[in-house]
Amino acid sequence: MEQSSAYINLLKKMLTDYHRVGTKEYIPVRLTHGVVSRKLRWLDRLLRPMNYTISQVNKSSEEERLNGKDRPMYADTMVGMKRLDNIEFCVRDVIENNVEGDLIELGVWRGGSTILMRAILKEINITNRFVWVADSFEGLPTPDPNKYPADRGDKHFQFEELKVSLDEVKHNFEKYGLLDEQVKFLKGWFKDTLPKAPINKLAILRLDGDMYESTMDGLTNLYPKLSKGGYIIIDDWGAVPACMKAVEDYRKHHGITEEIKTIDWTGVYWKKENA
Ligand SMILES: C[S@@+](CC[C@H](N)C(=O)[O-])C[C@H]1O[C@@H](n2cnc3c(N)ncnc32)[C@H](O)[C@@H]1O
Repeated sequence: MEQSSAYINLLKKMLTDYHRVGTKEYIPVRLTHGVVSRKLRWLDRLLRPMNYTISQVNKSSEEERLNGKDRPMYADTMVGMKRLDNIEFCVRDVIENNVEGDLIELGVWRGGSTILMRAILKEINITNRFVWVADSFEGLPTPDPNKYPADRGDKHFQFEELKVSLDEVKHNFEKYGLLDEQVKFLKGWFKDTLPKAPINKLAILRLDGDMYESTMDGLTNLYPKLSKGGYIIIDDWGAVPACMKAVEDYRKHHGITEEIKTIDWTGVYWKKENA
């Protein structure tokens, strides 16, 4: 298989903000929940009108950025280098083996993983596949524990830093010269957008929506569209138990037995062996 090029290697370093590893980042403190935050909320009310934000000083390590374990302030993806390497491996493999279909990520945040997908297609002059960029572009849904008990108590919907607008993501593609007609945006909740998305076949299905509901919506609507020889990648398998449960439930229900391979502390993937 073709090796990673200097362009793609450099792009991955830019997307993860790798060159800044070890320098101080000032990360706004989450004030929406927790016991400690009561005092901070009070301080925040005082400071906000003056345009100040209460921040935590973070010094990311190379190990964290490799494994996508920190909360990067400036990176365009939070998945880390190992999971970007995995995306590159899967994209090159489906192209080399002529596995039919487009590439999609569900849950894109600032867009970094899909920017990498588009860059690889461009580098090897693939013009007959789309990169689908699916997100609410306003963060995660509030949990629906009656329908999805595994999501009970999930707090992701409160995290302001997970709300990245469509314009911002488009701008991020533009920064790298990669916003064009081969990039398609699906804006809205997965439960609304995926059932009617005009996607015929997929070669790569990357799920990064954290919750049971988001993971299950992706599997139910799109796994049947994944071609034989295509890859499904689950970002939150190790990090979010509810995500792992959704995958296990879906696999059990559909008798899926392909071996699950580990990427890093949280990411896993498998190759679809049967159409
Ligand atoms: C952890 S972030 C994704 C990180 C990203 N893949 C990267 O490369 O950094 C999760 C994203 O999923 C989106 N999301 C989660 N559940 C969703 C749903 N049910 N419908 C639409 N968007 C959802 C959020 O808006 C957020 O952008």
